[in-house]
Amino acid sequence: MRIDDPQILAALPDLGIELRAGASMTEQTSLGIGGTTDLLRIRRQEHLPELIRLLNGGGIPHRFLGGGTNLLILDGELPWVMLQLVRAQPDVRLEGNFAYVDCAADLGRTVTFCAKNDLGGMEGLIGVPGTVGGALRMNAGAYGTQIGSYVREVQVYRAGDGGIQTLRGSEINFEYRHTSFAPDDIMLSVKLELPSKPFREILQGIRICNEKRRASQPLNQKSAGCIFKNPPGASAGRMIDELGLKSHRVGDARVSERHANFFVNDGQARAADMLGLIADVRQRVHRAFGFELEEEVIVWKG
Ligand code: EPU
Repeated sequence: MRIDDPQILAALPDLGIELRAGASMTEQTSLGIGGTTDLLRIRRQEHLPELIRLLNGGGIPHRFLGGGTNLLILDGELPWVMLQLVRAQPDVRLEGNFAYVDCAADLGRTVTFCAKNDLGGMEGLIGVPGTVGGALRMNAGAYGTQIGSYVREVQVYRAGDGGIQTLRGSEINFEYRHTSFAPDDIMLSVKLELPSKPFREILQGIRICNEKRRASQPLNQKSAGCIFKNPPGASAGRMIDELGLKSHRVGDARVSERHANFFVNDGQARAADMLGLIADVRQRVHRAFGFELEEEVIVWKG
C-alpha cells in the first residue's frame, strides 16, 4: 500500500518520521519473505499517537513491525503500511537492579549489556533474535528463561484508548509464548528487574546456551525460529522428525535438517510455499499423533 494523501505526506517530516516507499519485507524479516509496502520509521515515540491519528483519518490500514524475526508476511503488494520504531541511543539505562530498555533495542545486545554490568537472569535468551518489544509481546523464552519473569513495567501505545500508558508487570499475563497485551498494543519501553550476578558467571551461562543452540538449531539459515508451539506434554520438533520430514519441502520452503521445527527459506521461498509447508506438516502430524499444532510464528495473511 502506498501513502498518497498529501496532508499525511506533508506532516511526516515535522513528526521526524522517515518514509521508505515501497520497502520490501524480504529485507525486514529473518525469513526473507514478504511483499512490498510503505514503511514508516518513527524516531520519537511521542509522535506515534499523532501518526496513528493521521493514518486512521486517511483510512490507511497499518501494522507494527518489530525485528521481523518471528513473522511470516504474505507476498505481493501488502494491504497495510508498516510502522517501525527506530532504536533510541542509548537504548538501555541502568539504575541498581533495574534496566530501562527501549523496545526497539536488540534483545541479544540488551542481555549482553546488562551482563557486562553484572545483571543476569536472561542468559537463556541470548540467541533469541529480534527486538526487546517482540520478545515481550511473545514472552520469548529459551533454556528455562522467559522474559516475562523480569518485567516490572511496560510502556505501551494502546490503540484502543489512543494513548500511551504504563502497565505494571503484575497487570500483564505472561504465558508460554503468549501475553495478555491487546493485538494492537505497541510496546515502547520496559523496566526489567534483574538479579545481580558477577559477569564471569553470567558469561558462562551465555556460553552454555550458545553452544546448545549452535548444536541444535540452524542459526545461519533464513528462518523465523520454531514454526509451531509445543503442545502440552509433547515436542513439535520431535514429532516432525519422527515422521521423517527433515528436508521435506514445498518450493524453496524446507524443513531444516538440524531442527525439524525450524522451516527455512532455502532460496527464493514465497509466503505461499511456507504456508503450504506449514499446512502439509500440520496435517501429517495430526494424522500420525492426533495433535493439532498451533503456529508459534506470527502469520500476516491479510
Ligand atoms: N528433537 C528431535 N528432532 C528435532 C528437534 C528436536 O528429536 O529435529 C527433540 C530433541 O532431541 C529434544 C526435544 O525434541 O528431545 C526438544 O527439542 P529442543 O530441546 O530443541 O527444544 P524445542 O522444544 O524444540 C524449545 C523452543 C525454542 C527454544 C528451545 C530451547 C518452542 C516452540 N521452542 O524448542 O524456541 O530455543 O526450546 O529452550 O517452544 C522459538 O521460540 O522460536 C524457539 C526456537
